[in-house]
Amino acid sequence: PKDQTLADVNVVITAGPTQEAIDPVRYISNHSSGKMGFSLANAALNMGATVTVIAGPVNLTLPPEINRIDVKSARDMHQVALASLATTDIFIACAAVADYRTENVHTEKMKKQTDTDSITLTLVKNPDIIADVASASDRPFCVGFAAETNDVEAYAKGKLERKNLDLIAANDVSVGTQGFNSDNNALTVFAKNKRFDIGLTSKKEVAKQLLTIIAKEYQQHS
Ligand code: PMT
Repeated sequence: PKDQTLADVNVVITAGPTQEAIDPVRYISNHSSGKMGFSLANAALNMGATVTVIAGPVNLTLPPEINRIDVKSARDMHQVALASLATTDIFIACAAVADYRTENVHTEKMKKQTDTDSITLTLVKNPDIIADVASASDRPFCVGFAAETNDVEAYAKGKLERKNLDLIAANDVSVGTQGFNSDNNALTVFAKNKRFDIGLTSKKEVAKQLLTIIAKEYQQHS
């Protein structure tokens, strides 16, 4: 690419949903399509970065220059993210990671019960991938997302602080024209004492603008 702003910079991006198995044929997941994360990967590549995508199950492709690692569950994604830490300069957590997984994965397909109308699944907490990346001793520059339906700014700032991030991109997902599975998005990006607004546009353009902000903040920080 002509733009070499991120030459020699290793960017790792998580993208898409995770799937938490219930039994061999069922799982818990969410509406993430991977479009936002994959757009970020392309934008980073276009700025000269070396790019790795840790992708949950999505139906999207990436150019061959991008290193892609496919995973299913939050625990798989966590393991791959931590294993790539030594060579990560910028970590961007765009994946919609399941906060909980089923306590027990049934090895055989669960049968419909004839004697009761309700069954109970017990869920246990998954590891927090970006929080663990950000608390590593040689931590990369950490960018999180916050998908919120209400009190967007307050919750996003809370996650910035609690997960010890450098930047957080707040995504209001209560609006039907943006967020999960849409081709368009709008974000408000927060650093400790800064705010940047990215207005509603294509995810490709949102990704370009967000990467420009990330590159600038990364260069000022390092
Ligand atoms: O994939 P698309 O259809 O294009 O949609 C894009 C998107 C809406 C998924 C994306 O823009 C977005 O908002 N991604 C974050 C979704 C999310 O799960 O946010 P959260 O507020 O629950 O999580 C906060 C942050 O912690 C995120 O950076 C998330 O990746 C990270 N996290 C959360 C839980 C966990 N166990 N590990 C994590 O790393």
